[in-house]
Amino acid sequence: MMQEYKKNISIIVAVAENYAIGKDNKLLWHLSDDLKRFKKLTSGHTVIMGRNTFLSLPKGALPNRRNIVITDQTEEQFDGCEMAHSIDAALEIAGKTDECFVMGGGMVYRQLFPVAGKLYLTRVHKSFDADTFFPEIDFNEWQETESEFVSAGGRNEHAHTYTKYVRQE
Ligand SMILES: NC(=O)c1ccc[n+]([C@@H]2O[C@H](COP(=O)([O-])OP(=O)(O)OC[C@H]3O[C@@H](n4cnc5c(N)ncnc54)[C@H](OP(=O)(O)O)[C@@H]3O)[C@@H](O)[C@H]2O)c1
Repeated sequence: MMQEYKKNISIIVAVAENYAIGKDNKLLWHLSDDLKRFKKLTSGHTVIMGRNTFLSLPKGALPNRRNIVITDQTEEQFDGCEMAHSIDAALEIAGKTDECFVMGGGMVYRQLFPVAGKLYLTRVHKSFDADTFFPEIDFNEWQETESEFVSAGGRNEHAHTYTKYVRQE
């Protein structure tokens, strides 16, 4: 049976062929165009992330976005962030109208992927050694609406494809 999902919750993720997304609390690649696309899509909206992903950001909270950080640590307050102490609290703070981008990492994706109505997937066309993975995607559950291939070269280390999906009704 289809789980109940929220139309304004989107997943944004870059995934390798073997579903790898990170190692040692870092990304596995440098894809300049992907970072630009991330900024363009998320600016002016809300981003939701786990504590580890927040700690991996070079300059802390992302500017021009509402930052929600999920953690069990109730005393902690990160500058420029709204702290949530559960997935439900994060969804409550996120609200029901503005598009909210779930931006990782592995632990948070696993919990919010079943809830998301949209998926902005960057597929990196290579496999990587990693310690963090995205859950396997059942593409029968998702309808592709846009796709664009980017070849390797210049400031993009690896060939990759951006695909946008909406959850099948
Ligand atoms: N390729 C990509 O697109 C992408 C995107 C983002 C991140 N990443 C990578 O993913 C890796 C990090 O992922 P991760 O799985 O280690 O960490 P994460 O999901 O970023 O954060 C995990 C932390 O979030 C908190 N948390 C998660 N669920 C919670 C819940 N239900 N209630 C309360 N707190 C909760 C906990 O923090 P406390 O321990 O403080 O309680 C937990 O330790 C890094 O390598 C990063 O580079 C990749």
